[in-house]
Amino acid sequence: MEKDHLESTRQRLSVKQALAAAGEITNVALRGWVRTVRTGKGVTFLALNDGTCMASIQVVIDSGHPDFQAISATGTGAGVVVEGDLVASPAEGQRWEVKATQMKIVGDADHDYPLQKKRHSFEFLRTIAHLRPRSNTFGAVFRMRNALSFAVHKFFQERDFMYVQTPIITANDCEGAGEMFRVTTLDPRTPPLENGQVAWKDDFFGQKTGLTVSGQLQAELFATAFSKVYTFGPTFRAENSNTSRHVAEFWMIEPEIAFADLSDDCRLAEDFLRYLVTHTLDNCGEDLAFFNDRIEKGLIDKLEKIARAEFHILPYTEAISILQKSGENFSFPVEWGLDLQSEHERYLTEKVFDGPVFVVDYPAKIKAFYMRLNDDEKTVAAMDLLVPRVGEIIGGSQREERHDILKMRMDAMGVPSEPLSWYLDIRRWGSCPHAGFGLGFERFLMYVTGMENIRDVIPFPRTPGNAQF
Ligand code: 4AD
Ligand code: MG
Repeated sequence: MEKDHLESTRQRLSVKQALAAAGEITNVALRGWVRTVRTGKGVTFLALNDGTCMASIQVVIDSGHPDFQAISATGTGAGVVVEGDLVASPAEGQRWEVKATQMKIVGDADHDYPLQKKRHSFEFLRTIAHLRPRSNTFGAVFRMRNALSFAVHKFFQERDFMYVQTPIITANDCEGAGEMFRVTTLDPRTPPLENGQVAWKDDFFGQKTGLTVSGQLQAELFATAFSKVYTFGPTFRAENSNTSRHVAEFWMIEPEIAFADLSDDCRLAEDFLRYLVTHTLDNCGEDLAFFNDRIEKGLIDKLEKIARAEFHILPYTEAISILQKSGENFSFPVEWGLDLQSEHERYLTEKVFDGPVFVVDYPAKIKAFYMRLNDDEKTVAAMDLLVPRVGEIIGGSQREERHDILKMRMDAMGVPSEPLSWYLDIRRWGSCPHAGFGLGFERFLMYVTGMENIRDVIPFPRTPGNAQF
């Protein structure tokens, strides 16, 4: 009991390894946190969890143990080291348990540990973001997030895409929505002025900079050298919208492919989503079963259906006509030329298609400057992928590869071309049709876990007024 390091003869196991053991093992050591403590006749049972899987392992300590009293009084949440033998469990629903010969409480837990109850609301758990990863739901969410991060790289690496780390600090507002967070070393009380304006040339980078809203523009440069690339990194938007689908810091996956058009782009997005869903079904069984049971009934069926389904492609113009004929009482107007609102997106994907749908060829006026102008000169080769419940999870397009048309679009939309001269340059030397998209990683996680609020699929959500943890 004196030391918390292990005898070299003991085999250290994770809870996951212990529960998956092929047979009994003597002399094992486990470490983790106590989920529950229960004392019966001459014996105490601890449920030990170390985050490696959803299930806890039962640890049995009998009253002959010299510290039996202290161990029986262990608080929920305490960190402990257990040594003993892994033996077949007589209890129902578990194959193995640990018969402890030694146990040390490394970090005791005060009795006001907030995760005592079996169930807490997600709102409450958000206020204790430092402890919520120890709950069943958040354990499952973050294990799944981990598995899917790995699958993202696996998908692209298996297909010869190059991973490129695009900058976090940038001078360009890719989406042109004016939602960039400012990055500056100037003193806000006494900034240098020139003609009454802040003199950004005197700032750290010699110009006005902010946190990136998308790695796309730089990914395009790399795609015209390496053919197929992707980014997977944090993205920042100072969008003051307190919805269940927006956070100010989120992770986006942005592939960019050279010599490709919009239909290649849609096909890539479809293959990618199907791969991620299949990976989830094949590798996240225990966590998925939990979500299926507690969070979204029928989730596994839904994912199995997606893994087989073909995604529909719907031109924006047709989408407008479907919405206008729907007889639904939408709060936002439906009219050619206006953007689709979340209620419209959900109607299309939930009521009309009951599955994922690509809406393509949006009016040029409501989309970013870099999207390729279609021959009708009114629409651009854009695509948004909509899914039931979550709405838009992917935004992408074929890019405008024709120098003069791009320049004209920028001028018409008031996007200054001088700071983007490098972006125009690749249209002068070896330009080629190319396309790409951005998948919001958290939106996708909402979709595959059934979680309803984006704040509950990211470890430490940043939203207006919240950056505590
Ligand atoms: O549609 P968006 O704005 O597209 C782009 O940024 C393109 N530059 C991507 C590209 O073509 N390479 O954003 C892409 C996706 C959205 O579909 C959504 O899933 C997610 O990013 N997203 C957000 N997720 C969480 N919180 C926010 N505030 C988000 N804004 C966008
Ligand atoms: Mg979008």
